[in-house]
Amino acid sequence: MTEDTRSAHWERVYATKDEQEMSWFEEVPRESLDLISKAHPNRETRIIDVGGGASRLVDMLVERGQAHVTVLDLSAAAVEVAKSRLPTASNVEWIVADVTKWQPDRCYHLWHDRAAFHFLTSKEDQSAYAAVMHRALAENGLAVIGTFSPSGPDKCSGLPVARHDGESLQRIFGPRFRLISSETYRHTTPWSSTQDFQFSTFIKIDRSRITRLSNAGPCAGTSGSHMVSRRGPYRFGVRGNCPYRTAAAARGSAAARVPIIARNSGEE
Ligand SMILES: C[S@@+](CC[C@H](N)C(=O)[O-])C[C@H]1O[C@@H](n2cnc3c(N)ncnc32)[C@H](O)[C@@H]1O
Repeated sequence: MTEDTRSAHWERVYATKDEQEMSWFEEVPRESLDLISKAHPNRETRIIDVGGGASRLVDMLVERGQAHVTVLDLSAAAVEVAKSRLPTASNVEWIVADVTKWQPDRCYHLWHDRAAFHFLTSKEDQSAYAAVMHRALAENGLAVIGTFSPSGPDKCSGLPVARHDGESLQRIFGPRFRLISSETYRHTTPWSSTQDFQFSTFIKIDRSRITRLSNAGPCAGTSGSHMVSRRGPYRFGVRGNCPYRTAAAARGSAAARVPIIARNSGEE
């Protein structure tokens, strides 16, 4: 599917359908919020919702006090819907782009995607997505990827999808990411049918742990301090180098003055 066709499809969907007519609609994106909570983000954690559409995840992250939230979507109409609910949220960045072609200009600590990656059915698009995700994430950053699972539907919004489990995603994302958790989730659509999803969390691994790395990407740098927590499956403690931030610092931008992330209290 070309970028134009993709984009036209999603513009039409968001321009013509009410949210209750979209199978993926959730009043509360509970699974996403739970998985993001498990990462123990602090206020300064930079979170991006890729293919965020009109999802209410952004509303809830803002409500939780996240200071840096980005929503990226192919559809300007979708972004407008979400934006119109948050007219005063100055801490949200809205980006209209095809993720496979997007050139990130800063690093994120947490990448979230619910039901966007599974529309990428070609190897080329999937690899392009993995490369962008690698460029956009700080060292030790986390990626939470929700897709239809192998027992889920083979179409979404009338388009074919690629169904995944943690292992199939790991094969696509390659050695630059490590799968740290995977779980299944049954979504109930607004008309009460069910769809099987999987949500997998990956960590962008420390460059020093990769013996042969051909494409480190600009967000690669010195290792951060991601640790396995005794209190949970993982704890967010990313302090990885971010060259974008360095470039922003050189320009003296406000973004650059924000500490990339503060350590969680009680972190060893
Ligand atoms: C099924 S909807 C899910 C929306 C949202 N994540 C949610 O859970 O409500 C898929 C979204 O992915 C977006 N999308 C599809 N392909 C994309 C691409 N290549 N780049 C960016 N966004 C894309 C669509 O515009 C749509 O908003």
